[in-house]
This record gives sequence, structure tokens and C-alpha cells, in this order.
Amino acid sequence: MKILCIGAGYVGGPTMAMIARECPDITVTVVDVNEERILAWQSDELPIYEPGLKEVVDETLGRNLFFSTDVGKGIEEADIIFVSVNTPTKTFGHGSGRAADLQYLEKTARNILAHAKSDKIIVEKSTVPVRTADAMNRILNSRNSDCSFEVLSNPEFLAEGSAVKDLENPDRILIGGHDTEAGRKAMQTLVDIYARWVPKERIITTNVWSSELSKLAANALLAQRVSSINSLSALCEATGADVGEVASAVGRDSRIGPRFLNASVGFGGSCFRKDILNLVYLCESCGLHELGEYWHQVVRVNDYQQDRFVGGMISNMFNTISGKRIALFGFAFKADTGDTRESPAIRIAKQLAEERANVVISDPRALDNARIDLGDLGDRVAYDEDPYKAAEKAHALAIMTEWPCYKQLDYQRIFDSMLKPAFAFDGRRILDHQKLYEMGFNVYSIGRAPLTHLDA
Ligand code: NAD
Ligand code: UGA
Repeated sequence: MKILCIGAGYVGGPTMAMIARECPDITVTVVDVNEERILAWQSDELPIYEPGLKEVVDETLGRNLFFSTDVGKGIEEADIIFVSVNTPTKTFGHGSGRAADLQYLEKTARNILAHAKSDKIIVEKSTVPVRTADAMNRILNSRNSDCSFEVLSNPEFLAEGSAVKDLENPDRILIGGHDTEAGRKAMQTLVDIYARWVPKERIITTNVWSSELSKLAANALLAQRVSSINSLSALCEATGADVGEVASAVGRDSRIGPRFLNASVGFGGSCFRKDILNLVYLCESCGLHELGEYWHQVVRVNDYQQDRFVGGMISNMFNTISGKRIALFGFAFKADTGDTRESPAIRIAKQLAEERANVVISDPRALDNARIDLGDLGDRVAYDEDPYKAAEKAHALAIMTEWPCYKQLDYQRIFDSMLKPAFAFDGRRILDHQKLYEMGFNVYSIGRAPLTHLDA
């Protein structure tokens, strides 16, 4: 059997490497129009950083895992084609700022039609609006062809930073297909592939539309939890409650559960925002405007949390940060990844620079992406991988990403090198606030009352 994946990104690369590892008898090829990415997958420096991924790629590359830019040849030879291209938010025309931009997906469908010479199972791996499989089906069957195409939905639930673990041991695999003989046969083929390493009871089969909507629903509910706890974090700061204690208390209720209740400077990542906006657009398209408003609020609270964090920095630093050096610790949207897409640090760094602060960015993995994201700020922003150097002569430091290395720094040394009064703003609640306060820092954390020497 031959599997092809179109799109060698954060999903296509790791997912196919895992299938190749678990199914040594299947040839897996990943193609992309981006030649640089394809070369990087075959080099010592993979195009994405993911713990454990290099080992999986090393084990399979050249054995039964191949990367190529020859999309046409890949299509011709494959029995199953995973489509894992990007589906960003539309930035133009109808539905701009909300709807999913499906141009890459449609190009892929047309490309498959142009090159296919035998029957194929097409697997929608990208996150898409409900009924996209229908559009794919129509394109694929738009001309008389001897080949038949069966489109399945198989959304991906991996999270960055834990992709290998998530792929190895997924909570569930979701496969949506049509309730026809051909649909059921195609679903069984895909079930049999995953069943090589995923327990059968975790492989769910549904209809296509439920599968497509479940992916948007899962991301919306996860993001909603973060916005919910973040909304409570503001209340905690105002009242003297501690959001960590609140989260721990409510999370003990087994109906609520303890995970995904870490208050933060806001959620980032390539998908939460775009998928909720996609859901909002879907609600609106169905005439369900109140429900669109409901989901939109999850994104608004997330923006508000970031703006509130910057507002707090300005007001606590005597209402001006102009000319003040501020070190941002972390730029990735979460720990264990170099990915900065939609990272809260982008919006925050831009707002600080607008206030004419001298922003210095530090991150163990994401500085290359940070330079691209903040390119238009030029030399108003500096970069230093070494957090000690970034904080030297700074008025303030702010934690943007929960990298474990930031917990282990010598904060006394950092305090000694900073200008006084020295400020620490913890956007991820990872520092020992009491200890920092005792060193002399004025400490402001998301979700708890400040510890400051300034009132005395
Ligand atoms: P990505 O941007 O990292 O990768 C997509 C790749 O597709 C790019 O390398 C691009 O060059 C390639 N591509 C685009 N059009 C092409 C074409 N016509 N032919 C060949 N290659 C083409 O995106 P990603 O993060 O891997 O996300 C892919 C999809 O998976 C999205 O729909 C996303 O919502 C979804 N998803 C992402 C994650 C995640 O953690 N990043 C998790 C679950 C689902
Ligand atoms: C998320 C989902 O968890 C995946 O299931 C999904 O497949 C993926 O989106 C996708 O569709 O792209 P990801 O964005 O990689 O995965 O990472 P998460 O761990 O979900 O974190 C998202 C953001 O929320 C990060 O910025 C993180 O710091 C923030 N977060 C998460 C919090 O602020 N608090 C929390 O308690 C949890």
C-alpha cells in the first residue's frame, strides 16, 4: 500500500512519520510545494522543533518514509492521499477575517483530479468548515473519469510540543465517512491502518459532517476554557483571590476536570483563533447570529487579556514605558515549540514598541520566527537568546512563554543587573513570586494580587 500526504507542515510531517514508524510495510511519501521545507525534512535540522520527532524521522527516513516536491508523481502512485495543507483565515473578500481560506485545499483537489490514474481514498486531515468534503467530492467527480474517489474526514488533534506523544497515544482517532458501501470500505481501510497501534475502542467512526464539526468544536471548547479561566484571572487580581487556587478547587469537580485551566497571557497557536472564527462564520452563515456572538466572545476575551497585560505594565511602571528596556522571556506560543503563530507575545511586543519601550526578546527556540514576526519594527526590538543579557539594565522582565528554563534562572543575579525599581510581570504564573518579592522585585502576576514594595 502507498500513502501520500500533501502538505509537509506541523501536521503532515509528524503524522506521516508516525504512520511510517508503525506500518513499516506501507510506503509513505510527503510532498509539498515548499522545496526548502522538503529539503529540511531530510536534513539534520528538521523544519519544526518537536520533542522526540527527530528520532522517529531518523528511524523511518529512506526506509518507508520519503519527502518530495513531485506532487504529480506522488498522486499517481498513491492509494490513499492525506490532505494536510494550511487552511488559514481568509484575509480578503467575502468572509474576510472569519471564513477559512480554502484555496490551497481546492488546488490540491484539482491537482489530484489532474494526476490520478487509479481509484483513491482522499483523507481530509486539514481542519475545515463543515461540508468541505462535499466540495472536494464535487471537484473530484467533476469530469468523467475512470477513477473513483472516496473522501473521508480524519481531523488531527495533536498539540504542538507534545505531537509525538499525542500521535503515539491519541485520546481518539476520528474518521468520518459516507454510509455507502464504498464509504464504509474506505473507512475500514483507514481504521485498519490506525489499529496497528491505537486500541480499537479509541477509533471512532462517524458521518463526515459530524467529524468535520467535531474538530472545530474541540478547539472551540478548549479555547473557551482558557478564556473562561482568564476572565476569572482578572477578577482574582481585583479581589485578592488566586486563580491557581480557584482553578485547583473547581478542577476537582470531576464534571469540570483539572486540565486546560492554566490562566495565562492568552492562547496562541495557529489554530484556536482561526477555528473559532471559522465556527463564528459558520453560525452566521446558518443565520445563528446570537451563537456567532457567543463564540466570538472567546476570541475577544483572549485579545482583552493581552491588552490588559500591557495596560498593567504601563500603569504599574508609573504610566510611561517610553525609553524603558523591557525583556520578554519567551516568544513561542507555548513551551517546547519554536512556533510563534498567533503567539500573544507578538501583540504584546508590538504594543510595547508602540509605547516606545526598548523591547528585548529572548527565547530558546523561537528567535528566528520572532525576527520575521516583528520584522516591521526594525531596530525598535532587539533579540538575545541569553535571558541574563536580555534583562541587563532592564526596568522590567515579563514571562511570555512557560519554558521550564525560565523557572530555573538565577533571579538574584538578574535582579542585581536590572535598573531599580525592578519589575517582574508573570504572564504564565511560573515564577516563585514570594521569592522574587523578597529579592526586591515588584511582582505582578496574571491572576493574583501584586506583591510590591512601592506602596510602602
Ligand atoms: P503548515 O502551514 O505548517 O503546513 C501546510 C503545508 O502545506 C505548507 O508547507 C504548504 O507549503 C503546503 N501546501 C499548501 N498548498 C499546497 C499544495 N497545493 N500542494 C502541496 N503543498 C501545499 O500547516 P499545519 O500547521 O501543518 O496545518 C495544516 C492543517 O492542519 C490546517 O488545516 C490546521 O488547521 C490543521 N491542524 C494543525 C495543527 C497544528 O498543531 N499545527 C493541529 C491539528 C490540525
Ligand atoms: C491545540 C489543541 O490542543 C489540539 O488538540 C489541536 O489539534 C490543535 O490546537 C490544532 O488544531 O492546531 P496547540 O495549539 O498546539 O493545540 O496547543 P495547546 O496546548 O492547545 O495550547 C494552545 C494555547 O493555549 C497555547 O498558547 C497555550 O499556552 C494556551 N493555554 C493552554 C493556556 O493559556 N492555558 C491552558 O490551560 C492551556
